[in-house]
Amino acid sequence: MAVISAFNLKKRFNLEAGFFARFGRFVYAVNDVSFSIGENESYGLVGESGCGKTTTARLLVRMYKADSGRIIFQDREDVLAMKRGELKKYRERVKYVFQDPARSLNPRMSIYDVLVSGYRWSSRRVGEKTARREAAAVLEEVGLDGADLERRSTEFSGGQRQRISIARGLLMKPDLLICDEVVSALDVSIQGQILNLLLDIRSRHKLSFLFIAHDLKVACYFCDRIGVMYRGELMEEAPAADLYRTALHPYTRLLFSSALGSGSPAAFPEGPGRNPAFERELKTPLSELAGCAFAERCPLAEDRCFREQPVLQPAGRTDGGSPAPENHRVRCFRTGPG
Ligand SMILES: Nc1ncnc2c1ncn2[C@@H]1O[C@H](COP(=O)(O)OP(=O)(O)O)[C@@H](O)[C@H]1O
Ligand code: SF4
Ligand SMILES: [Mg+2]
Repeated sequence: MAVISAFNLKKRFNLEAGFFARFGRFVYAVNDVSFSIGENESYGLVGESGCGKTTTARLLVRMYKADSGRIIFQDREDVLAMKRGELKKYRERVKYVFQDPARSLNPRMSIYDVLVSGYRWSSRRVGEKTARREAAAVLEEVGLDGADLERRSTEFSGGQRQRISIARGLLMKPDLLICDEVVSALDVSIQGQILNLLLDIRSRHKLSFLFIAHDLKVACYFCDRIGVMYRGELMEEAPAADLYRTALHPYTRLLFSSALGSGSPAAFPEGPGRNPAFERELKTPLSELAGCAFAERCPLAEDRCFREQPVLQPAGRTDGGSPAPENHRVRCFRTGPG
């Protein structure tokens, strides 16, 4: 069973406000994204800054309204059609942990208030005593002390604050935890601790994750399956181990070669560090694209790539001719089925 499935999600933002909105210029943040996350599965959404990861996650919890597409929760509930009461319950089942704990935790509130604020807005009524007991338990679960409930978030380090954010996400025992770049703002050593904490939580609870990261290595460490996004589109999707062994899409290979530092795939002999295209700030499309979103940067691009849009489809076979697994999908004319 899928915990959540997204079909053909699209979202564009109007760059003009007020009167000028009618002449709208748009950024196409999410273009036709489809994926699903199974029970107890960790699905990674990976790509450079600006490629549409956060927008996709916010569409899932209806922080943004999708322009089109469908979102189905637990194979039956139509998220985009939910009324207020249903949406409230849905948001107890699907929790969002933000990238920056310093901004997402109110410094004036005690940790207890931060944690149980979820209960106040929820359909579940619990008494003060139960709330306190559950808040202390979840705080201990993330490696802090029950006595920390009375302290304020400003008294904690960045890593500890991220633990508090995770505790807040876990308190209602959700079915899906969305972790949006939860380790990106942390030092490498702290990143490892938080990742291990999440792995620990995974093994103890029946829980699915949408794990968002710009670092492919981090995502491969944590996730079962990964979708690689570029300019609002999914370019490749595969089990993490397959992606690690045989990334097919030129963009994924570029991401890997940059993550691993050396050993650039043959398609990128110059190495990403010296590839000015890779260092350039990624631009979100300002119009609907005629061809492949990656064509301008792709060393394998041919004429067709600028005219036609490839679709995401089962990879068929790898470069070496051996069959790729059925659940390895790629959006590329030159590395698709053939
Ligand atoms: N609320 C918004 N209003 C206008 N543009 C937005 C908004 N949120 C995101 N965008 C734009 O949409 C694109 C995708 O952003 P985002 O989803 O945050 O990417 P990521 O999380 O992968 O870094 C970017 O160009 C960003 O500037
Ligand atoms: S479709 Fe063409 S431009 Fe796009 S990734 Fe494949 S080879 Fe490159
Ligand atoms: Mg983001």
